Amino acid sequence: MHPYNPDRRQLLKSSGIAALAAAAASSGLAACAQTANKSSAVSDGLNTDHCTPARNPRRTLGKLEVTALGLGCQGFGQNMYGVPQPAKADALRVTRQAYDYGVTFFDTAEAYGPFESERLVGEAVQPFRNNIVIATKFGWDIDQTTGQRTGKLNSRPEHIRRVVDAMLGRLKTDRIDLLYQHRVDPEVPIEDVAGVVQDLMKQGKVLNWGLSEPGVQTVRRAHAVQPLTAIQNEYNLFHRGVEKDILPLCQELGIGLVPWSPLAMGTLAGYVDENSRFSTEPGMDLRAAIPRYQPAALRGNVRVIRLLQTWAKRHTCTPAQFALAWLQVQAPFVVPIPGTTKTRHLLDNLGADDVKLNANEWAQFRRELEAIPVQGLRLPEAVLKFSGVEAKRK
Ligand SMILES: NC(=O)c1ccc[n+]([C@@H]2O[C@H](COP(=O)([O-])OP(=O)(O)OC[C@H]3O[C@@H](n4cnc5c(N)ncnc54)[C@H](OP(=O)(O)O)[C@@H]3O)[C@@H](O)[C@H]2O)c1
Repeated sequence: MHPYNPDRRQLLKSSGIAALAAAAASSGLAACAQTANKSSAVSDGLNTDHCTPARNPRRTLGKLEVTALGLGCQGFGQNMYGVPQPAKADALRVTRQAYDYGVTFFDTAEAYGPFESERLVGEAVQPFRNNIVIATKFGWDIDQTTGQRTGKLNSRPEHIRRVVDAMLGRLKTDRIDLLYQHRVDPEVPIEDVAGVVQDLMKQGKVLNWGLSEPGVQTVRRAHAVQPLTAIQNEYNLFHRGVEKDILPLCQELGIGLVPWSPLAMGTLAGYVDENSRFSTEPGMDLRAAIPRYQPAALRGNVRVIRLLQTWAKRHTCTPAQFALAWLQVQAPFVVPIPGTTKTRHLLDNLGADDVKLNANEWAQFRRELEAIPVQGLRLPEAVLKFSGVEAKRK
């Protein structure tokens, strides 16, 4: 039985946190044997005081050990997909609950807010900072005092140093476990970026580093100067672009792969159909500007969601669990970071660890998936132009 099946999900929807506690208590997830983490026990109405997660699968990114699922914390800093930014207390609670349920990998970025997500993560993890991995990202041109953005990239060495110092303050820590370049800056040789990161490592401010949405040659050049721990790219049932080059490259070089938007911006969680329309109010829902989710494209693309729903039902799990489990079986070094601001979604997602299909079943699912052509770009063109970029040669 998966810790959080569709029936439980319905129950939770209808009766809130009390039902959540009951559901969690009766699930494998909360089969608690001994006292462990107590970070959120008091404040959230969910009794985690006595919880040791029943299972806590681990994976390695490069040489960095993390849990098989992380927590994406972008939504704490800004409204992205029609979900209002949570109150501070809720963001702190969800982060601490994630830890209570075994998650040790938290993903943020200076750009989320900007700064607000980092601040909240930093505060939330204080009681257990030494037991977890914090990943954050630099690379956009953001004024560290005012938060003002130019919309451009900035990976100039002096800027990276300034950003990292500011990040350490926001995260209330003395080191960043995994520091990514958010997007490759075509104007700065990646060797220079790797060199600065190397210096920051020597100073103990950064422990590991990675790239997000990089060009393939840039990965090789960066890795040659300072070995990369992880690449963070979009990867989900709708967008499997990494399979062409980045996934095999990660395998070849021993780099981990962290899929962002593993639920395709929530679209794979089961609530989107061909009639779904996303708010066009400024700053409300990025999907309103994404070609893939426009009405005409969605009419065809919804076949992926239907396929997912069918398979999830067959294997007694939720669509989100199935979508995350599918990513996990692609390679042992793949670690999705679903983003959520809700306890019930966190618990739902953690159930992915228990979805088990045999190799033939996964192969059959892939055949059916690949028979569906996905229409429309995965991001607005203006955003997509920052992906797959090669840094200038030295
Ligand atoms: N490197 C990059 O360029 C980049 C880009 C984007 C994101 N990221 C990172 O990747 C993380 C995840 O990506 P993402 O947030 O874009 O997309 P995602 O994880 O695919 O989807 C997040 C959305 O799904 C909803 N959701 C999550 N679990 C759910 C469930 N079980 N049932 C129903 N809805 C569910 C969330 O809403 P609720 O809050 O209501 O649960 C949220 O709106 C981010 O938090 C961020 O850390 C990195």
